[in-house]
Amino acid sequence: MAKDKLKGLILSGGKGERLRPFTYLGAKQLVPIANKPVLFYAIEDLLACGITDIGIVVGDTRHQVEAAVGDGSRFSAPRASITYIQQDAPLGIAHAVKVAADFLAGQPFVLYLGDNFVLGGIAPFVQRFQSDSSNCQLLLDRVDNPQSFGVAELLDGRVARVVEKPTQPSSDLAVIGVYMFDRHVFEVVEQLRPSPRGELEITDTIQYLIDQGLAVHASVLDRFWIDTGKMDDILEANAVVLDALPASNQGSIDSASRVTGKVILQRGALVANSILRGPLIIGEETRIADSEIGPYTSIYHHCQVRGSSIAGSVVMEQTTIEDVSYRIEGSLIGRYVDLRGDSAGRPEGESRRLALTLGDHSQIKAL
Ligand code: G1P
Repeated sequence: MAKDKLKGLILSGGKGERLRPFTYLGAKQLVPIANKPVLFYAIEDLLACGITDIGIVVGDTRHQVEAAVGDGSRFSAPRASITYIQQDAPLGIAHAVKVAADFLAGQPFVLYLGDNFVLGGIAPFVQRFQSDSSNCQLLLDRVDNPQSFGVAELLDGRVARVVEKPTQPSSDLAVIGVYMFDRHVFEVVEQLRPSPRGELEITDTIQYLIDQGLAVHASVLDRFWIDTGKMDDILEANAVVLDALPASNQGSIDSASRVTGKVILQRGALVANSILRGPLIIGEETRIADSEIGPYTSIYHHCQVRGSSIAGSVVMEQTTIEDVSYRIEGSLIGRYVDLRGDSAGRPEGESRRLALTLGDHSQIKAL
């Protein structure tokens, strides 16, 4: 039996402890992947399924999330209607469902963890849930480290058991951060008790549904997925998205520059006397001069890069990097960072390399 129209619930609270220093102040869901906050991909994935009524559960970083997402009007075709739902303490994913119960109003919904990224979106899985008779659908991915995730055991196409971060996993099927539920979940989250780590666990919720004899289905992903909760995962997701994006140029490159590979220049980006090795993306109003950029590098909006070499890295907005003679590689560089070396002119090439993790507003100056 087809289900009612689905709502969307995106979680954008939590502490992001595995992504410090970026998350001391900032929301982990706003870290950019290929110059777009990871949270925006989740919103766009829901819209692509025709899900426009979207609740975003927020915590301490509420103001940043609201400032970035707004009321949803920046997402068009179809336009999103965004409702912010406050979670006063990060007490677990099932707790977030509980605090969102009024917004969800008994309707079926897609629950999307705002730091999860699925290349190519979730439309086929949502269609399946909409048209089948299941009460819950999980998305699973085969991983090398199942002990870091919720793990599912399948029996005859149904989910027989789910365990949160088991020390001895019984399969390599990780439960990814996109779940679909019908109204039965609301009774369960009301009854749930906190786990040993003090959270209301979504895995316990799902196990409860299974124990009640409800139909919990699973789809194994056929596409790239990553939980961007750690720095290496962000760099990996960045590389995968850059590989998938088409080249485009809304900026300008002078005749002294050389370009190889797929390059994206966003509005007002300026490149002078530099070497660009795609895939890479340069953000709005960012200036690159006398530098070597790429491959697999994203530099977000309003940055200044001069006399430096950057590869395999993500640089967030409003950052300045000048005259660094070491090649910057595998780095995650925050917002409003000021990084100044002492080598005037072109970088010295690849011989000396630096891997940097710099939180917002970091300052480094060679004397
Ligand atoms: C959460 C869930 C876990 C799931 C993971 C997916 O873990 O508890 O079951 O596999 O998201 O990203 P967390 O990232 O909160 O540790």
